[in-house]
Amino acid sequence: MNQADNASASAPASLDPDARVAALSQALGPRAERFALRWVETCESTNSELTGNPPRDDDRIHVLVAEHQHGGRGRRGRSWQSWPGASLTFSALWRFPAGAPVPAGLSLVAGVALAEALERLGVEGIQLKWPNDVLVHGRKLAGILVELVPGRGRTPAAVLGIGINLRLPPGVAIPDQPAVTDLHEALDGEVPACEAVLAAVLEALCRILDTYALAGFSALRDAWQQRNAFAALPVRISGEDSAVTGTCLGVDEDGALLLRTEAGVERILSGDVSLRGLS
Ligand code: BTN
Repeated sequence: MNQADNASASAPASLDPDARVAALSQALGPRAERFALRWVETCESTNSELTGNPPRDDDRIHVLVAEHQHGGRGRRGRSWQSWPGASLTFSALWRFPAGAPVPAGLSLVAGVALAEALERLGVEGIQLKWPNDVLVHGRKLAGILVELVPGRGRTPAAVLGIGINLRLPPGVAIPDQPAVTDLHEALDGEVPACEAVLAAVLEALCRILDTYALAGFSALRDAWQQRNAFAALPVRISGEDSAVTGTCLGVDEDGALLLRTEAGVERILSGDVSLRGLS
């Protein structure tokens, strides 16, 4: 029985946040000790809560889950829309060693963890779109927003915000996201309890962040490359006021995108850019 089966069997139907946390802890088993878990009915944005008011450093990964966000944020200043029960929206605050440089490739690491967790739940055809969208057969299933929290006398931290579409309202149209999918579609209608989904993601996140802390992104690069949605395909990378086209060669040891252009191989750092396939 994997984590997901365990939680599916025990998850209560209730939406009570305390019952949610209890079901999640049970699903995580002994791994629950690695996390400080908080579940709220509503908040503006779980990322804003954790970046604005970072919890005390107690060596645990602090996780905040919201049943509903009324100001959910996406990459590039966009909003992230979600509906109660239709999406799983949460953020995890992870502290990296004091004095260490900003870790490279962190947002890609979160994508690998999410992909592995969703595959364990039975989702097939998962691919990663640089820097960190999770796609199933070309349609977006989940998004990731990584934000850094400066040290200011504490250990610096990163907030990994994740939104997973569980069961979108029928016929929903999301601005800026023309092609979306949800777990209901990806799993042929068999969506596990959201505590089960979250337990699988947290288990993968914890395991992969441990590898990352020890060995850096290079240890996870192959896992990302294997799922690269645009491997060897023509793409356009657009920034605020410029764009470049080329063939996607994958990512380097820092998680930067390598693009073969007419001028040679360009290295693109994850910033305020977006990637679009051209084929
Ligand atoms: C994107 O694809 O643009 C990133 C979306 C990230 C959404 C999640 S939902 C939980 C967390 N809180 C937020 O406000 N955003 C992230």
